[in-house]
Amino acid sequence: MGERILILGANGQIGSELAAALRLKFGADNVITSDIREPRERAEQEIFELVNVLDKERVKHLFEQYQPTQVYLLAAMLSATGEQYPQKAWDLNMNGLLNVLDLAVELDIKKVFWPSSIAVFGPHSPKVDTPQYCVMDPNSIYGISKLAGERLCEYYHKKYNLDVRSIRYPGVISWKTEPGGGTTDYAVHIYFEALRNGAYTSFLSEQTELPMLYMQDAVRGTLELMDAPAEKLSIRSSYNLAGMSFTPKDISEEIQKILPSFEMSYTENDPRQAIADSWPKRINDDYARKDWGWKPSFDLETMTKDMIENLKSTI
Ligand code: SER
Repeated sequence: MGERILILGANGQIGSELAAALRLKFGADNVITSDIREPRERAEQEIFELVNVLDKERVKHLFEQYQPTQVYLLAAMLSATGEQYPQKAWDLNMNGLLNVLDLAVELDIKKVFWPSSIAVFGPHSPKVDTPQYCVMDPNSIYGISKLAGERLCEYYHKKYNLDVRSIRYPGVISWKTEPGGGTTDYAVHIYFEALRNGAYTSFLSEQTELPMLYMQDAVRGTLELMDAPAEKLSIRSSYNLAGMSFTPKDISEEIQKILPSFEMSYTENDPRQAIADSWPKRINDDYARKDWGWKPSFDLETMTKDMIENLKSTI
């Protein structure tokens, strides 16, 4: 039997592009997307189901109905929104994952993908060249839920032999679907605003360096991890993954190379600054490189060119 894919939380920034890539790879008939709301648009051949991942019976029904070989759980509340609704963030991020892990064991799902984040690191983690294993003291509810989720993934792998795979995504930058509720969102909004208004006010200070990844690399990396032979994977919590690192100042200067009249300004006292300050600046991803051959292909310059070129024709 070929692969059949079920994506939970498929309408979001990563889900929408991952779904497109998985349809290309496995055929539209073999990719079932689902989310808590209908997508804004959908091609006729796309299979879509409404589901709340907290409704375990409904998720179970979908697993039984479609018998997926691979499940991608992308429904989550991100860092900034999580601080507004900590209990909801914990509930969705934790119980959504537990439901999927439990059902994957019960119904014998071959592989599960679940994203973690650089938010698992905290103020006492090394900021530069942040290793896979180090002090981890996340202080956002999002980061706390992701770190707990990583421990669950490893636990289910060890205890039940579940083939669960995960990446600690940095901020992911894309032009097709805008992200929502994250601390790294500024690095997406800046491109949209540069083209719409020629100006952007950053909610992070000009020297705030954070790890980032272009969507094409994020999608390719995810597919490569899912394709890797199980015996090559030495990490079942979640892999560090690096693309590039930059500050709001760096990205604004890169945009100005293409749009010289672009104007950048900064606000102060945004609550997202404290979240960003607790995260690493640059990530060490040696394990991903060694275990499954990870290598990013975009840097700030090539990503900026690609973002602006694509957004010019869509905005
Ligand atoms: N992009 C995410 C956020 O800002 C990081 O995982 O919340």
